Amino acid sequence: MAHQWRGVIREYFDRLDIEKGNPIITLGEGGTPLVDAPALAKLVGADEVYLKVEGMNPTGSFKDRGMTMAVSKAVGHGAKAVICASTGNTSASAAAYAAAAGITSVVLVPEGKIALGKLSQAVAHKAQILQVQGNFDDCLRLARDLAENYPVHLVNSVNPDRIEGQKTGAFEVVERLDRAPDIHVLPVGNAGNYSAYFKGYLEEFNEGVIKRVPNMWGFQAEGSAPFVNGGPVKNPETIATAIRIGNPASWDLALSAQECSDGRFGAVSDAEILWMHRFLSQEVGVFVEPSSATGAAGLLKTVQQGTSVAGKTIVVTVTGHGLKDAGWALKDEDGNEIKPQIVSSRAEEVAERLGLA
Ligand code: F0G
Repeated sequence: MAHQWRGVIREYFDRLDIEKGNPIITLGEGGTPLVDAPALAKLVGADEVYLKVEGMNPTGSFKDRGMTMAVSKAVGHGAKAVICASTGNTSASAAAYAAAAGITSVVLVPEGKIALGKLSQAVAHKAQILQVQGNFDDCLRLARDLAENYPVHLVNSVNPDRIEGQKTGAFEVVERLDRAPDIHVLPVGNAGNYSAYFKGYLEEFNEGVIKRVPNMWGFQAEGSAPFVNGGPVKNPETIATAIRIGNPASWDLALSAQECSDGRFGAVSDAEILWMHRFLSQEVGVFVEPSSATGAAGLLKTVQQGTSVAGKTIVVTVTGHGLKDAGWALKDEDGNEIKPQIVSSRAEEVAERLGLA
């Protein structure tokens, strides 16, 4: 049988905190493409920009890298149920990996604030879903409380197994480029992924594989930007629901990653996020969910504000698939609905409508 990618635990077993003999629950996550994006490089004036396309993971987001670790280890400890708070992607991933493991999943999501694609995934994988009257931060508080007091295992990124699995994204970037990029850009919500990539790069540096760690640049949505404001945001708001988080769980880890990497945090408006969402679809050919365009939007804004990235090699993690939150693609710049025209099946009419005649 031809070799196929075996999922991040088997591919990186020696570099992950997991014991031999621990069950491995995998859906083949990781091994995602690093896509050359010359249109984006040209736009920002960088030498090279690559997108690490995490929407190519089994449930359509980067969460799967961490979830294979978290669920495998939960099963190794005898857990029969996992729980998470989520803005959508974590719940989709937890539900899928729990299904693969044959255990129960419980997900707490903020009422009315998760994208339909993500909700349908959690339902499809038979999670017990509760919509909480509150925001993500309330859901996380509740999930931690329940995991502490009831027989259910927490798989949010406050669980270090999640960060451990997600660091493999950095390993793959280094393998592909044969070095570290100068700058690594990410959207930031709980800041788990930002912290995980830094951990991965730092380990590569400590092992002498790379000569320096990249500057870690993390971007939030303006209405939900605790790292930029310097403290929690009580009522976070943004159309980028995946990162609508006011009190990031990985606050300390992320701050130290930013300091150690000489990195930065910034904020972009919802309009800037949606502009980049469209640019990535139309000019690069990569369809991401709006939240996932936040990193690239922040990169562009930073350049527009006067920071040059000339001569730099940049990797931008685009975190989730466009189909997760597909409705945004069906709106134009002014927010009007886009509806393909209806035509007869006569070739002359179709040619005329297409401007071919
Ligand atoms: N992009 C997407 C598509 C996400 O779903 C998330 C987080 C992030 C970026 C931010 O990553 O939290 O590690 O800084 N989603 C979580 C969830 C909160 O519940 O699915 P982070």
